[in-house]
Amino acid sequence: MRRSVVIDTDPGIDDAVAILLALASPEFDIAGITTVAGNIGIATTTRNAGRILALAGRGDIAVVSGAPAPLSRKGFDTADIHGNDGLGGVGFPEPLAPPAEENAVVWLAAHLDRRPQKSLDILALGPLTNIARLLLEHPASAARIGRVVVMGGAVREPGNIGPRSEFNLAADPEAAAIVLRAGLDLVLIPLDVTRKVRATRADTTMLKAAGTPAAIACADLVDAYFQSGDGRESRPLHDPCVMLHCIAPTLFGHETLKLSVDTGDGPDAGALIPDEPGGAEVDVATSIDGAAVLRLLIERLARRSV
Ligand code: RIB
Ligand code: CA
Repeated sequence: MRRSVVIDTDPGIDDAVAILLALASPEFDIAGITTVAGNIGIATTTRNAGRILALAGRGDIAVVSGAPAPLSRKGFDTADIHGNDGLGGVGFPEPLAPPAEENAVVWLAAHLDRRPQKSLDILALGPLTNIARLLLEHPASAARIGRVVVMGGAVREPGNIGPRSEFNLAADPEAAAIVLRAGLDLVLIPLDVTRKVRATRADTTMLKAAGTPAAIACADLVDAYFQSGDGRESRPLHDPCVMLHCIAPTLFGHETLKLSVDTGDGPDAGALIPDEPGGAEVDVATSIDGAAVLRLLIERLARRSV
């Protein structure tokens, strides 16, 4: 079923693959892309959103710049993974249009207010700062959000930025805590499942052979991702799992877990804490048919539409 969505993102190599997947999929009517600082600074994530849209010839989709920093902490620098340009040095065109004037949070509230109740979903691919600020500063508008699908957290998996913490939640633990306990119609897509969607060199060869601009760009992005890898023969595609969950939810298994977020200053800041008093009931994707999900991703990107 086609849904109107806003993609909230910090592109970011895997964010770029996720956005190109959404552009190639009829299930998404992309109302706009809101950007957040995360993998790299806000100016670069915002420019990159415009560059990704330019590659797909979609300069009509609004790019709206959001939070330049977490609510109350310093963020992380992941140039070692995503490169100094945030896109692994892959050749993307320049944006076709400048970003919108207003801030992403004001823009989101205005769009929520003028659309039917629950008709706009948010696909969250980065730190949750923008969504937390929307909840804090525009609660009536936030109450009109449809679904929120979040890539973040680690439940029964080690973290990827701390021993138990995953990057998106650890970049802004306070924002994650606000979003998870807000009672939104939310599903969390943690490392437990995203680490099972792994692209190999064979997949990049297939994508290049498909020959579409999106497929070739994604092949180049995954090849760049390999540069930062630990020599393993595959790389996890975290953010595309958000779109893939929307396209094929039955390829995922879910549990409702009682979760809090560690907002301390230790190495586990941003980690999910299960079964703590006061924890929120969260719908979490905890299993996945990783091979089928990867096949779906490759098939969509190979379509000639983009
Ligand atoms: O932990 C994975 C997440 O952190 C992804 O969103 C990736 O883009 C990085 O931001
Ligand atoms: Ca991301």
